[in-house]
Amino acid sequence: MSTQAQWRPRFHFTAPQGWINDPNGLIYYQGQYHLFYQHNPHGCHWASMHWGHAVSSDLLNWRHLPIALAPDAEYDAHAEGGVFSGSALEKDGRLHLFYTGCVPGRAAPQTQNMATSDDGLHFHKYQGNPVVPESPLTQGRQNFRDPKVFAHAGRFYMVVGCCEGNVESDGDGKVLLFTSPDLYRWHFQTVLFSSNGAYGRMPECPDFFPMEDKWVLTFAPMYMPDGSQTVWIAGDMDFTEGRFTPLCSGRMDYGPDFYAPQSFEDNQGRRLGIGWMSSLPWMPWHESFGPTASEGWCGALSLPRQYHLNGEHRLCALPIAEVDALRRQEVRFTRLEVGQTPFLFTTGETGSFEIRLQFAPSEVASGNLRLSLLGGSGADVELEISLTHGTLALHRAKNRFQPQMTAYAPLHVTSEAVNIRVIVDKSTIEVFVGEGEVCLSMNIYPQKGDSGNALWVPYKNAILRNVWVAEMAAVPN
Ligand code: FRU
Repeated sequence: MSTQAQWRPRFHFTAPQGWINDPNGLIYYQGQYHLFYQHNPHGCHWASMHWGHAVSSDLLNWRHLPIALAPDAEYDAHAEGGVFSGSALEKDGRLHLFYTGCVPGRAAPQTQNMATSDDGLHFHKYQGNPVVPESPLTQGRQNFRDPKVFAHAGRFYMVVGCCEGNVESDGDGKVLLFTSPDLYRWHFQTVLFSSNGAYGRMPECPDFFPMEDKWVLTFAPMYMPDGSQTVWIAGDMDFTEGRFTPLCSGRMDYGPDFYAPQSFEDNQGRRLGIGWMSSLPWMPWHESFGPTASEGWCGALSLPRQYHLNGEHRLCALPIAEVDALRRQEVRFTRLEVGQTPFLFTTGETGSFEIRLQFAPSEVASGNLRLSLLGGSGADVELEISLTHGTLALHRAKNRFQPQMTAYAPLHVTSEAVNIRVIVDKSTIEVFVGEGEVCLSMNIYPQKGDSGNALWVPYKNAILRNVWVAEMAAVPN
């Protein structure tokens, strides 16, 4: 079924059928990874949110399980609401899920709720729900959602996104911090972070986690002035005072199709994050959710990414090492000379492949290098690496389903060798630079046979130290 479809990714997570958005409740529990996700099992459009559920031993091969949470309680049953995003935490061997119940039309339509499980398969909503019945900000009740729960120094904490004021006009984004001794009784502690106009009007899906001696706040800001969809802010945290002091910030991804990421720490101590690979109608460049409903599905999740802070405390993310094992028939070109006449190569018929480029800036005389992808019937994509301008640009030509667009990212060349990695999986493209200081995700809907790729320079030849091209294997899901 799935793997034969023209656009369904072969190793990115998609639902068996229907609509999917944010990843939820990521956790390593009872010997396997659990992934929950925002899901409408009844159609390829957003409606009446459920939590879909899958498990895996390697974060790539996922086994679909029955729906974990359905919108069937007084505080979450609604066709235009439902069981919204949230997170998972294990305590005393029991799995605890926290989510927003959304029933539009009420004075406090968004409440924080809990469900538990002892086997990771059957879930029971807590009788005492909601555990947080409304926002402590009286002007913040309409948009109050996406609890991320974590343990620190013998206590439990929850961050929740909130818009104080009107999200359509002049509201301000806040991340609220709650604390609990037992996961049942929650108290508002403080406003952990205020956008003050600079970080959008509503921080969706906030996440807050330690990395080295810093704490990192990430969220998906609605209506961010510069168009960012996902941001990270690293800083110092004082839990006693409830004071977060930001030091530096950046974008988690520069492409149009990465949103609402959530992270967790796995059993190997890795901080891993997954995002939803799509955009939403309120984003300026959004035109549609693409043509995949014709295949019975809509929405994919990003590759799991491993986070780390670089020497400047900047958040970086690269695909987990498990992805490397999917490479097949890898070809390596060494000291490849590239000129204005394109160096042409194909990437197999499957539509799932990886290209890695490694070059020394001093050997790219033109200061500009182009990688054209998926050439053929018109769904062309071109990655333009401009050393002269310090930018990376991913251009997507207009195609049958999408408008033309270009996503830009900064390219700081500080090292001797630049490494750029491009992973294409049918209808998804993810680009990673260096240690993951730049990630860029974009969807594309190629036609069958669009498998021609080319490397070229606009003038003056370049020498690439290494180019690796591999087909990527499918996973059974
Ligand atoms: C982000 C989001 C969340 C919400 C969920 C509903 O994409 O809007 O804020 O909980 O989707 O599906």
